[in-house]
Formats: sequence, structure tokens, C-alpha cells
Amino acid sequence: MPFTRLTPDLLARFRALVDEKGSFVAREDMEKYASDETEDLVFWPELVLRPTTAEEVAAILRLAHESNVPVTPRGAGTGLSGGALPVEGGICLCLERMNRILEIDTDNLMAVVEPGVITEAFQNEVEKLGLFYPPDPASRGSCMLGGNVAHNSGGPRAVKYGVTKDWVYGLQAVLPTGEIIETGGKLIKNVTGYNLTQLLVGSEGTLAVVTRITVKLTPLPKYTRLLLAPFDSPEAAARAISSFFQHKIIPTALEYLERAAVEAAERRLGRTYPVPPCAALTLIALDGNDPATLDRDVERVGELCIEGGAADVFLADTPEKQRDIWQIRRSTGEAVKSISIYKEEDTVVPRARLPELVRLIWAVTKKYGITAISYGHAGDGNLHCNILKMDMSDERWERDLPVAIAEIFRGVVALGGTISGEHGVGWVQRPYIGIAKSEVELALLRRIKAAFDPRGILNPSKIF
Ligand code: LAC
Ligand code: ZN
Repeated sequence: MPFTRLTPDLLARFRALVDEKGSFVAREDMEKYASDETEDLVFWPELVLRPTTAEEVAAILRLAHESNVPVTPRGAGTGLSGGALPVEGGICLCLERMNRILEIDTDNLMAVVEPGVITEAFQNEVEKLGLFYPPDPASRGSCMLGGNVAHNSGGPRAVKYGVTKDWVYGLQAVLPTGEIIETGGKLIKNVTGYNLTQLLVGSEGTLAVVTRITVKLTPLPKYTRLLLAPFDSPEAAARAISSFFQHKIIPTALEYLERAAVEAAERRLGRTYPVPPCAALTLIALDGNDPATLDRDVERVGELCIEGGAADVFLADTPEKQRDIWQIRRSTGEAVKSISIYKEEDTVVPRARLPELVRLIWAVTKKYGITAISYGHAGDGNLHCNILKMDMSDERWERDLPVAIAEIFRGVVALGGTISGEHGVGWVQRPYIGIAKSEVELALLRRIKAAFDPRGILNPSKIF
């Protein structure tokens, strides 16, 4: 059944469910909600609603379900797979006003937050208490925890600390039919029924709208170090990276940047990494509470880099130097994308197969005459491959690109990997999901979707 368009009467009924600051219909007010950080895609909602309570979210979804109006949830709109784009029109349900840290529970080492809290703001608050919430997507200065939950966001520190799912222990969420549910809680152990918390984490806003999140915290490591090691080939970098794990050293973060990615970020910020030009730059972060042990690991990592062919190893030992370097690293995505029209692929393989992934991307892009710049989280086998249009004709871009991307993805799956590590399937990777999932699994995912959302009103046309 086609979705219902918002008639003046329906529009008024929806707007009445929130306060006077809670809705936008004017084109200039809705503009920011028509796109996210994905390529140059624009889809206009018919109405933006900005509720402040779970009860308001429930009332909105009840009415949307009854009247068959599509609803697309949204946080800060920093997503990279189009998950927050209202591709079917209808309502953009933005959680940005639900932005309170409700509790930092220092006895249970848990915190309870609303979905609109900015990730970095939350991290700063818990760090004041000597606590730590590790997941650190590159956009952490502007993204929201609700979006992190929706996409199961990762980031550099996933190597040691895992991704968002590893920190979420409970949720309050509103079903697309309008009921409020509570899953999990401040419980480290919980095997009571299916694990709905983990089903919702990473479900890209297609199963329910998260209105409250309970996360685990851990003590903040006292000391951090950051090493930079330039290599003359990605293979050499990847081999050195594998050697850390063989020596039982788990870095906090282990990043890899191709030369073009380094240069793009340096140009954009007008600042440089403190290393000479190289084919492949690695950033290796370590943390711990005992400076002597930490420095022994730093030394060992440095030796392994040199043995692996690094031209030199540079140590950023002060928090200021480390902050500066991370700032350049975090601006890489935006910098690379500012070069040209682009498409980003978020490939991931078992970390030891990273050299094969690098070679695969080279082979396919060479075959199709495509420019690509890759960088990412080598320690997680997660490489962001940005394909740039440059001077490629529109015709070739339309014709060859989907074929090349499918070829990369088939290669990734053959390496034991998958088509998205941390950015999600959303809207832009949807055509390729069949490469990564079997028919049986896809049918099961669809039945789960239907069980939550019988009318398919919540974030329609995403994932499959
Ligand atoms: C990064 C984002 C794009 O790693 O995931 O910079
Ligand atoms: Zn990333």
C-alpha cells in the first residue's frame, strides 16, 4: 500500500503532538533535515518533528502507524550511508532536543542518556569523573549517541575497546506501532529472553526509535601514547601491524592512511603530520595505567615498525601533540570528499587480510580506471575506500561504478569480510546487501522487520 501524504489535516494533527518549537514545515527550516553527510543526496521531508519525551515519540508513531505515514528517525545527520534521509518523504523525527545526560552512576559504572547527547560532550563529562566511554567515531564532536546506537558506530579505539554495541546494556525504545519498551538495564549479566538491546543496536532506525540509552563505563586509562610510523608500501605497513598482535600487544587504535589521504587532510587543515612524506602512514595509540609497562610496549611497537621497514618512528607524548594529530586524522573523511564527487565504501575484513584488501581495491580500481583514496582502521581490518569521480564522464560513472563496487564487495566477502564495518547499509549500500547476506538470512531479517513494524512506516527503503 502506498504511503499517505500529509494532508493539511494530518499535518495539524501531528504538529499538535509536540510543543511550538517542536515542528518545522517551512522550507528554509527543513533544509538541514533533507540531507546528511552522505554524498550530495537530498530528500525533503514533508514535516520535521522534534519531540522532547518518549511519550511524544510514542504518540507520533501511533498516529503514523494508524495513518500510514513514513517516519525517518534522525540525530545529528552525520551518517555516511543515508540512514537518516527521508527517502519516502513523510516525517523526519529528530531526537536532537532529547539531549540530557540523565545519570552517571559511579557505583554501577553505568550512565543513562537521552539519544540527542553529543558523543564527545558525554565523553568529556564522564572523563571529569575519571571514567571512560571509549567508542569514538570520527564525527564524535558533532554526532549523537542515539545515532551511534542506530549504526553501532565504531571509530579508532575499537581495536582495544570494541564498538558501540559492546557498551550498550539497556534501551528504552518506541515501537513503530507506538508502544514504549524497556530492554536490558544496568545489568552485566542478563539472559532473560531474546537480547532485544543488541537487536536494536545497529538496526539503523528501522525497528524502533531509541529514547534512552544505558551504557557501561570503565575507568579512564591514566596514560596515553601515540606513535606515527611512515612506511614505503601499504603491504609493509600491514605486515608491521600484524606483528603487534603476534607479540600480544593490543593498541588502543591502529590507523592506516594512504599518502593521498594524508595530503588531503593536511591541505584542508593547513597543518602537517610530523613525519616525512610516505606511501602509507600508520598511527598507533597505546594506553595504560602503568607508565613503565606502557613505555615498554611503546618501545616494542617502535622496534617492530622499524623491523617491518618503517623509515622512522615518531612519538607524540604530550596530550596536546596527540590532540593535534587526532584532529588531522579526524578531518580526513571530509577532506577526501571535498576533492570531487565521490562514493564511499566501508569495507571490512579480518585484520590479517588487510594487505589482500588493499591489493583488491587497487586491482579493481585500476581495471576500471577509477581514482580511489583509502584510509581507515587497520587494526580492525576496516578500510574506507573513497572513490572519486574526478574527470570521469557521467556515463562511465553511472555505468562502471556499480559494477566496480560490486566487484570490490564480492572480493571483500571472499576474504571473509563484509560490505560495511561501521557506516551501515542505509540507503546507499542497499543494492549490494545480497552480496553479503544469503536469501535465507535476508528473508529472516525481513520477517524481523515485519514483526516490529507491520506497516513498514519506520525508516522505509533502508537496508533492504
Ligand atoms: C573515519 C570515518 C569516516 O574513520 O569513519 O574517518
Ligand atoms: Zn571510520
